[in-house]
Amino acid sequence: MRYESVLDLIGDTPLVGIHALSPHPGVRIYAKLEGQNPGGSSKDRIALRMVEAAENDGRLRPGDTILEPSSGNTGIGLALVARMRGYRLRVVMPENVSVERRQLLEIFGAEVTLSPPEEGSNGAIRLAESIAADDPALVMLFQYGNAANPLAHYEGTGPEIWRDCPDVDCFVAGLGTSGTLMGVGRYLKERNPAVRIVAVEPPSGELVQGLRSLDDGFVPPVFDPALLDRKLIARPRESVEWTRRLLDECGIFAGISSGAAVYGAVRMAEQMESGTVVTLLPDGGWKYLSSGAWTDDLDVVVERATRINYW
Ligand SMILES: Cc1ncc(COP(=O)(O)O)c(C=O)c1O
Repeated sequence: MRYESVLDLIGDTPLVGIHALSPHPGVRIYAKLEGQNPGGSSKDRIALRMVEAAENDGRLRPGDTILEPSSGNTGIGLALVARMRGYRLRVVMPENVSVERRQLLEIFGAEVTLSPPEEGSNGAIRLAESIAADDPALVMLFQYGNAANPLAHYEGTGPEIWRDCPDVDCFVAGLGTSGTLMGVGRYLKERNPAVRIVAVEPPSGELVQGLRSLDDGFVPPVFDPALLDRKLIARPRESVEWTRRLLDECGIFAGISSGAAVYGAVRMAEQMESGTVVTLLPDGGWKYLSSGAWTDDLDVVVERATRINYW
């Protein structure tokens, strides 16, 4: 394969069997490895789409500064795209995010503004909105309300899954902005209305790696409840446990929200006698090494994650 730009590497990620984790021999489980994107996560897809959409409608001009609230992956994806396209980037993130995230953003040249740690990602959203209100020159793409976010998955991730796995019965993914579930869900249901779309979210008030509970007071404008067949809750402990099992039993080194998604996929597989479940692993494990998720006692990892935002 030969490419002219690193941005051409975004998307077309592999789907790989993780059947060792299936509770029934007749149910196959496949995982889409979004950590293979050049910025390391599924968010590269939406970063590129949101920038292109803003360029096309004239909101973004050469030399502009983009402002975005993000606890990590979207910021990193935008930092990569901004660097390649000649924009500056300012990312607002909670003060207690893990060291790897800040380092990556700074390496790519983004400016990081910290929001109060106790307010989580909702606090980062509020601070970014107030900074944008004070400085109209800043261009906020706002992944939570930007139609290019679900569109990137409707036009990219969804068709890739259908191409590689037309026998999919159930799609399971973590819910953050809901862009992945909305875009893939709409595409798959258009192809086969019987495909079930299942969201995995953390319990209200508990942090899981880039995921949010809709009960925590902010419902992303891109979210459409009609596309979801079910919601499952994954606690931080379960997410870390299944992230470990993914490595131990399938050799896949993925981030902690991938563990939550796999936990959800296995729950769905338990209720089936035969068929195919597809899940999406948003990123690789690299940014989570300092959480101790693969190395330390589970109780220690879970306690540490209540203080430091690793995901
Ligand atoms: C690590 C990780 N997992 C899952 C998600 C959820 O994806 P989406 O925003 O498409 O719902 C995100 C994004 O917020 C994320 O960063």
